[in-house]
Amino acid sequence: MVAEDVTGEVVGDTSARHYNGGDGDSKQSEYELSTLDGSIFDSDGSSIASSMSSAVRSNSSILSNVGNYKFEHDRRYHSYREGNWVLPNDQQEQDRMDIFHQMALLRMDDKLHLSPLENPRRILDIGTGTGIWAIEMAFKYPGARVIGTDLSPIQVSPPANCSFEVEDADSEWVYPTNNFDMIHTRQLLGGISDWRMFFEQAYAHARPGGWLELQETPPEPHNDGPTPPADLPFLRVFSLFTEASASTSRPFADQVSQFTSHMKAVGFVDVTSETRRLPLGTWPIDPVEKEIGRYNVLNFLEGMESYTLALFTRVLGMSAEQVRSLIDEAKKDVCNRKLRWYFDLVIVRGRKPYMDEVVST
Ligand SMILES: C[S@@+](CC[C@H](N)C(=O)[O-])C[C@H]1O[C@@H](n2cnc3c(N)ncnc32)[C@H](O)[C@@H]1O
Repeated sequence: MVAEDVTGEVVGDTSARHYNGGDGDSKQSEYELSTLDGSIFDSDGSSIASSMSSAVRSNSSILSNVGNYKFEHDRRYHSYREGNWVLPNDQQEQDRMDIFHQMALLRMDDKLHLSPLENPRRILDIGTGTGIWAIEMAFKYPGARVIGTDLSPIQVSPPANCSFEVEDADSEWVYPTNNFDMIHTRQLLGGISDWRMFFEQAYAHARPGGWLELQETPPEPHNDGPTPPADLPFLRVFSLFTEASASTSRPFADQVSQFTSHMKAVGFVDVTSETRRLPLGTWPIDPVEKEIGRYNVLNFLEGMESYTLALFTRVLGMSAEQVRSLIDEAKKDVCNRKLRWYFDLVIVRGRKPYMDEVVST
C-alpha cells in the first residue's frame, strides 16, 4: 500500500509525516513522539528517518495520476485503483457524505465514537471520504495525530494535527504495527474485498489496548408501517443493488453480521455490536429521530444515484437513463411517511489486548 498526501506529493522526507518502521511488541511509552506538525521524533528529539519513505518513493509513479479522475454518465469517479469503489467522488457525493456525518452524530448522541479513548496519540480513519470525521477528531483530541486515508484525494485542508493520504485499505498497510490508539471506519462496506484480512491488519496496526471501531449501515430497508408491495421501486432498487454488488469482489450486503466473529477470531477482546435505528423520513414522533429522518431523506435523495449508477450500468447492463428513471420513482417512496422506513446503524468495536493481559478464550 502506498501513500500520497492530498497535494499530490508523495510522502517523503520533506512531507508532513515520517514514520519509523515501528514494530513488534513495544509498549506505548516506547513509541516515537509525534508533534503537532506531524513530525515524529525519537526520545532524544532527533527526527526519525522513515523506512516507509523509500518504499513510498519507489511507488511514486503509481500515484502520479490519483487526481486524474474518471467521468462516467456525468458523475466523477476515483482513478487510483480505478473501479474498486463504485460510488462517485464528486461534489454531490461529498455533500451526501457530510449529510451522513451530521445524521450519524445525531444518532450517536453527538459522539464521534463509542470506544473509550484516553489521551489518544495516533488515530487512523480508513475510507475518510471528505475527512469530516478525521478533522473533528483532530479538534477533539489536539494532542493526537489523526490520519485519514482514501482512494480519492478529495479532502479539504486539515488542522495541523491531521493529514490525509491516498491509500487502498485492501492492500498491505504501510503503517507501523502496534501503533494506533484507534482505527475507525464508517460506511466502508463495498470497499473491502477480504474483510478477514482487513481485521487482521487492523489488529496488527492497533497498539496494545487500542480500539477498532466500525460504523456501518447494511443496505437493508426495514419498515414499521404497513407491508409495502414487493414491486415498490424503492425495494426494487435494493434487490437490484444486492444482486449487482454480490457479483463484484466487494459486495455491500451480508458482511456486517460477520464483523464480530472476525474480530474475535483475529484476537480483539471486549468486542461488541450495537444497533441504532436511522429512520428515513419525518414519521417518528421523537424530535431527535424526526431530525435524523430528515437528514436521511437528504442522504437518500442525494445518494441513491451514487450507490447505483455505476453498479447497475456496469454489472446489470442497464442504461444510465433506465437507472435514473428507476431512481426517480424510488425517490417518491423515500418520501412516503406511511411506510415508516428505517435502516440500521451498526457500531462494532473491540480492543486489542494489552501485552500482559490474560485473555479468556
Ligand atoms: C461512503 S464513503 C464514507 C466516507 C467517510 N468514512 C464518512 O463516513 O464520512 C466511503 C469512502 O471510502 C473510500 N474507500 C472505499 N474503499 C476504499 C479502500 N479500499 N481503501 C481506502 N478507501 C476506500 C471511498 O473512496 C469513500 O470516500
